[in-house]
Amino acid sequence: MASTHIFSVLRALLTAIFTLSGVIALFLVYHKSFSSPECHPPLAHAGCLTNQTNFQSTSVVRKQPDRPAVIQQTDKPVMLMWFWPGNKRFDLKDCKTLFQIDSCHLTDDRSLYPRAHGVLVFHRAIRDDLSNLPTTARARFQRWIWFNMDSPTNTRRIAGIQGLFNLTMSYRKDSDIHVRWGVTLKKNADEDFVLPNKDRLLCWIVNNSNDLHTKSEERYNYYRELVKYIKVDVFYNSSAEILKGQNYFLTISSCKFYLSFENSIHSDYITEMFNGPLAAGTVPIVLGPPRRNYEDFAPGSSFIHVNDFPDAVTLAEFLLRLDKDDEGYMRYFNWRQFYTARRHLTEERHEFTHAICLACHHMGVNKEYRVVPDLYKWFFL
Ligand SMILES: *[C@@H]1O[C@H](CO)[C@@H](O)[C@H](O)[C@H]1NC(C)=O
Ligand SMILES: *[C@@H]1O[C@H](CO)[C@@H](O)[C@H](O)[C@H]1NC(C)=O
Repeated sequence: MASTHIFSVLRALLTAIFTLSGVIALFLVYHKSFSSPECHPPLAHAGCLTNQTNFQSTSVVRKQPDRPAVIQQTDKPVMLMWFWPGNKRFDLKDCKTLFQIDSCHLTDDRSLYPRAHGVLVFHRAIRDDLSNLPTTARARFQRWIWFNMDSPTNTRRIAGIQGLFNLTMSYRKDSDIHVRWGVTLKKNADEDFVLPNKDRLLCWIVNNSNDLHTKSEERYNYYRELVKYIKVDVFYNSSAEILKGQNYFLTISSCKFYLSFENSIHSDYITEMFNGPLAAGTVPIVLGPPRRNYEDFAPGSSFIHVNDFPDAVTLAEFLLRLDKDDEGYMRYFNWRQFYTARRHLTEERHEFTHAICLACHHMGVNKEYRVVPDLYKWFFL
């Protein structure tokens, strides 16, 4: 009697195990069928399941009652670049290969608009009459990202866009997605650092020679004063091969000092003009926001600020003295015992790649509802 009882218990147990493994197998099949890159079900489903022909195994999908939690964990949100910023096209796989960012399905295919979770809108590309923005209603789950890397001085005010966006992406630290143009310091010693050979004292790269004499921006005014007291090697961006790609770092590393002068002065507006020299192994002389703002991004002993001196002649005298004082000069590289400066991408097509990949990362990890109430009030302060 007792043994029969044990058998029936065993049978029940085995049946349970079989059923369970069946369920698990079904689950796995379903799970696989859903990682198709074609469709990334949104927070709300409406955006994705509209065209069932995109699924290879819709029958499996329909039979499984308990799927939503699984879909949300495994599928990536779609991020649509409405414009290619500056028409600089890069390979859509670059986020993964260059930055190990793979948390969204990045696309430039506008037909995916109805189911895009994020729509990245590059400010400079918007027409004044807004006629090149999406016109159809947006899905409940869709968030529009305002993408602008320029400072307020160089940003057009376009009427009618203030109420459109859910997220901001700019150089400002208080953006939803903060993109630094440059400065990417890593917190570990730069053990490989050797001071590059120097055969120039002070260098600067500008767009063209006309600007040097005609433009009235603060950086040109300062340059015209400085050059009366110290020699500056000026390179012109447009012409020179020596400034392309990795040559850019080689060229500026041959200078003891480099003029990291921003085109306009705004808090947090510190660009690759600062990062480049840091990464190359020269000493940036900065003109931009106050010193303490730079120190939010890089060690205070890694650069010289024009405001550290009462005028250009005093700065020039200081640099000429430092040129003869190797020990004093080398102190500007002590920070490399603690940090490594990473080179930014210098290829033209990559001007906006890092920023776009950061947006992709953001879409993958943040899902909160948000609206930007008054874009301009915030941005133009
Ligand atoms: C669904 O997709 C197929 C092919 O991918 C296309 O021919 C069809 O027009 C689509 N239907 C809808 C409603 O979008
Ligand atoms: C995005 O912003 C728009 C316009 O302000 C708003 O209507 C919409 O509800 C927001 N959506 C999300 C998902 O935050």
